[in-house]
Amino acid sequence: MDYHLLGLILSFLFSGTKVLAGYPIWWSLALGQQYTSLGSQPILCGSIPGLVPKQLRFCRNYLEIMPSVAEGVKLGIQECQHQFRGRRWNCTTIEDSLAIFGPVLDKATRESAFVHAIASAGVAFAVTRSCAEGTSTICGCDSHHKGPPGDGWKWGGCSEDADFGVLVSREFADARENRPDARSAMNRHNNEAGRTTILDHMHLKCKCHGLSGSCEVKTCWWAQPDFRAIGDYLKDKYDSASEMVVEKHRESRGWVETLRAKYALFKPPTERDLVYYENSPNFCEPNPETGSFGTRDRTCNVTSHGIDGCDLLCCGRGHNTRTEKRKEKCHCIFHWCCYVSCQECIRIYDVHSCK
Ligand SMILES: *[C@@H]1O[C@H](CO)[C@@H](O)[C@H](O)[C@H]1NC(C)=O
Ligand SMILES: *[C@@H]1O[C@H](CO)[C@@H](O)[C@H](O)[C@H]1NC(C)=O
Repeated sequence: MDYHLLGLILSFLFSGTKVLAGYPIWWSLALGQQYTSLGSQPILCGSIPGLVPKQLRFCRNYLEIMPSVAEGVKLGIQECQHQFRGRRWNCTTIEDSLAIFGPVLDKATRESAFVHAIASAGVAFAVTRSCAEGTSTICGCDSHHKGPPGDGWKWGGCSEDADFGVLVSREFADARENRPDARSAMNRHNNEAGRTTILDHMHLKCKCHGLSGSCEVKTCWWAQPDFRAIGDYLKDKYDSASEMVVEKHRESRGWVETLRAKYALFKPPTERDLVYYENSPNFCEPNPETGSFGTRDRTCNVTSHGIDGCDLLCCGRGHNTRTEKRKEKCHCIFHWCCYVSCQECIRIYDVHSCK
């Protein structure tokens, strides 16, 4: 389909409708059919649904980083699906909706906290990476955080400029979170916690140069962690997220809601902790109102006592077992030199799924 026509149709469709969700509609950038060929197609800022005026301006001014912004949200969602793969709520997205998580994230739950943190971290991460790869003219390598060289190494290569990625994420992802209500305060906090994770995990990466692999000269640069490390860290923060209560204050600009830790006995949350103030549903049964898909037919692990185990994942309803034949490589032989030949074997597996 002609790209400009598609843009026109989209902007017409969304000009009159306001999709309401407790999370950003522009996250649909990460799934939208129109952005599957990121970079090779022009991005029409006016056709991205759910942008507030500040984001629209940002998009038009910094068009060349928009593919990284979309890529970053996608990265965040993929990581969410990895981290939650064995859980009742597994970060499912809905392809044909602009509210890509359905109603699940409308409430101010732990799940909402995690997705905001990982998505804003993803944006910072992807923008930083693409700048270091030289794909944009307005950003590049970081030359500020150098300091003196270390013992036996000197600075070299391209240090990733995470400060810039974080700045972009803050400008773009937080642009709509300026309402005086509790949900906005929660989103702002969790977005920032996600981005801080990137800055905290920056590390030195080094490379040896010299004849035949010797390490005569070693050069080092600042690099971001693997995004998996960010996901693992934020998943721990999800498990230990702080429950808050909403407080209302009267200020000169009107009523303002802020968050306070619910339990005075616990350590108050730091800027690195995730916060929430509504309880999650149990996600056991399908419920269109909460957006729960239920866990019927989900594959469970019969030997695990954790949340991916059949007891907990199936919410006590029990499970069915069927056998599945899978073709696998076997009897592999190494031939001198150098290839490996294998036979194909059929192995039979038990597969358990929730009733
Ligand atoms: C996630 O949950 C949905 C809905 O229950 C299910 O259809 C899907 O297969 C699950 N994905 C994974 C990777 O388990
Ligand atoms: C099932 O759970 C056990 C015990 O936690 C674990 O060792 C095993 O790797 C799991 N199997 C799969 C397929 O995840």
